[in-house]
Amino acid sequence: MTTIEAINRAAEPPDTTLFAQIAEQLAERGYAVCPAALPEPVTDSLVAALAATSEQFVPAAIGRGSSAERNRFVRRDKIAWLDERQPHAAAWRQWCEALRLYLNQRLFLGLFSFESHLAHYAPGDFYKRHRDAFRGESNRLLSVVAYLNRGWQPDQGGELVIYRDDNSVPLLAVTPSFASVVLFLSEEFPHEVLPAQRDRYSVAGWFRLNNTINGQLDPPR
Ligand code: OGA
Ligand code: MN
Repeated sequence: MTTIEAINRAAEPPDTTLFAQIAEQLAERGYAVCPAALPEPVTDSLVAALAATSEQFVPAAIGRGSSAERNRFVRRDKIAWLDERQPHAAAWRQWCEALRLYLNQRLFLGLFSFESHLAHYAPGDFYKRHRDAFRGESNRLLSVVAYLNRGWQPDQGGELVIYRDDNSVPLLAVTPSFASVVLFLSEEFPHEVLPAQRDRYSVAGWFRLNNTINGQLDPPR
């Protein structure tokens, strides 16, 4: 890097640079992969939230609201929702809020709200191929996943494998290494979590459109 490049880089707030990279990748191909990208205070906040919620993890369900059910053949992770009542995750929620506003400005996405949960996959746990949203059935538009696993080795498995539409050939496989961030359009990219040889921690979040009808939030939480 030349001195001028270094000065210019230092002059730009780092978050905006990352947000710009995310926006550019999303606009170009509908997904974004940013290895080791999550800012340290944000990652720290998630690690603190993991410690604070370790007793609150419950087996994840599939589906929405009252139709949600557990299916151990589909997914085996345990999750803990992160809302305002979880003060440790504040920096994460603030970062996602700043990203939401940025993407709305840059790409006119109309992202309205956000929800997220921590996930723990014990060794051997998986989440079979699925979509985070189905056209017309949900208001999830954009999925974000970040990883909290220090020292993850490539031979330890646990990849997030992403497909395009109904293709059986994967588009890419993401190693769940520390502070890596992945985003994708929720309806367009089926994906799966492969089993790992060690405990695997991630945070998954969804930016939603506003489908509020008669004051009733859809879907209910
Ligand atoms: C999910 C999900 C991916 C991951 O929770 O819906 O797909 O890599 N998570 O943890
Ligand atoms: Mn998913």
